[in-house]
Formats: sequence, structure tokens, C-alpha cells
Amino acid sequence: MVLYMIGIGLNDEKDISVKGLELVKKADVVYLDNYTSILNVGVSKLEDFYGKKIILADRDIVENQVDKILKEASSKSVAFLVVGDVFSATTHFGMFMGAKEKGIDVEVVHNASILNAVSETGLFLYQFGKITSIPFDNSDVKTPVNVFNDNYEKGYHTLFLLDLSPKVGKFLDVSEAVKYLVSNGVSEDLICVGCSRMGSNEQEIKTAKLKDIELSKFPQCLIIPGKMHFLEEEAIEKFK
Ligand SMILES: C[S@@+](CC[C@H](N)C(=O)[O-])C[C@H]1O[C@@H](n2cnc3c(N)ncnc32)[C@H](O)[C@@H]1O
Repeated sequence: MVLYMIGIGLNDEKDISVKGLELVKKADVVYLDNYTSILNVGVSKLEDFYGKKIILADRDIVENQVDKILKEASSKSVAFLVVGDVFSATTHFGMFMGAKEKGIDVEVVHNASILNAVSETGLFLYQFGKITSIPFDNSDVKTPVNVFNDNYEKGYHTLFLLDLSPKVGKFLDVSEAVKYLVSNGVSEDLICVGCSRMGSNEQEIKTAKLKDIELSKFPQCLIIPGKMHFLEEEAIEKFK
């Protein structure tokens, strides 16, 4: 019948848009991606506010059981909720394409994402290069450091997303990210900006050298600025 793909924002049950909420209320079945990101409130808060039971979709469902959700969406209205924006994690576009191929109507409702919330650091979004993710198991992984080196050489800022596992409440933190970067040849004296729990009242933005960066909340991400405009320099200075 129809698949609603709805971004629910970064913080809590109230970050969903009015349009998104109306669709959730209409849906026969509601899934929440519980794999690529996490809100700062538990699922029961969402259920109370939306007035709907929510099925948590973990990694296996998001990556391997998309067909099951699409099959359901061929006879029912299914809402698939994504923390942040819908397509900011590459994973979800496959579901969108699958629905299109099967002739299922898809309605997408966008929302704020960590990819634009980092603009609150004062770093200009259009000065960012490729985004990269540092996984928990990173001893043999070179892509993040290669992406950084490439961006830095061109003067672009690099946003590192840090692995998380919402199902078991596990998060990679900025100090582990720094350990990875330094062990791969990045200078520990470079200035960086760390962000945590963006979009909430408890969010942290901190500017420090890589070797000194520390954050206390989760989820976290890390930015190493490239060449900065003087307005960007002034802005990140305020978070020291
Ligand atoms: C795949 S991305 C998030 C995609 C999500 N759909 C979005 O639009 O925000 C997940 C990573 O983004 C970062 N992240 C997500 N939410 C965050 C927040 N509120 N504050 C800081 N970092 C965050 C973390 O590094 C996390 O591992």
C-alpha cells in the first residue's frame, strides 16, 4: 500500500515534524531503525507521544530483512522511522529503491541530521569534504585516515562519525577515535572540534588539540577542520 520513510530528528519524541507525526498516526505498523543512530530518549517515550506501538529494527532487519518490510508495505501502510534524517546513513536508500521497484508508494519526510547540526560549531558546511566513519574494530581499517588525508590536503574539514551499537548501548568515543587517527600518522597537535548529543539541552561542543579532546555524553562525532575562514576560526575559538 504505502511506505512512509520518516526522519524523526536528533533528540527526543518532539523532534518529529507535524507531517511526520500525522503519517505515523495513520500507519498500520511502525518500525524504528535501532541500528544507525540513537535518540536521547527511550522508545517508550516515542510510543506514548505517537500513540503507537513501535517495532525496533536492529541491524539484521535494516540490512537483511528489508524485503519483509516491503512485503508488509504492499498490503498495509508501514512507517519506517529513522533518527536524524532519512537518507543520511547510506543504508536506507536501498529500502526506498526496493519499494519503488515493487511499485509500492513511498512518502519521505525529512528532518534535521547530525550532518547539518555540526554547523553549530561555526564551521561552514560547504567547506566539508568527504564524511567518514570510524568503526569499533579499526585496527586494519585505513579508509577514515585516507579520507582525512585527502580532505586535509585540499583544505576541507573532515567529519568523523563514530561507531555505535544502540542495541547494546555501546559507543566509540572521541578519545578512541584520536587513538585510531594518531596510530595512523595524524598529528596529535591538530586542532579538532568534538560534538556530543547534538540537538539536546545537554549537547557539548569542544575545541581542543586532538590529544586533549574529551566529551562526556553520547553519541559523539569529531571534526578536524581544514583551512578555515577567519569567521570559522573565531567561532570554534568560543568552544575552547
Ligand atoms: C549514521 S550517522 C547518523 C545518521 C542519522 N540518520 C542522521 O541523519 O543524523 C550516526 C553517527 O552520527 C553521529 N551522531 C548522530 N547523532 C549525533 C548527535 N546527536 N550528536 C553527536 N553525534 C551524533 C555519531 O557519530 C553516530 O555514530
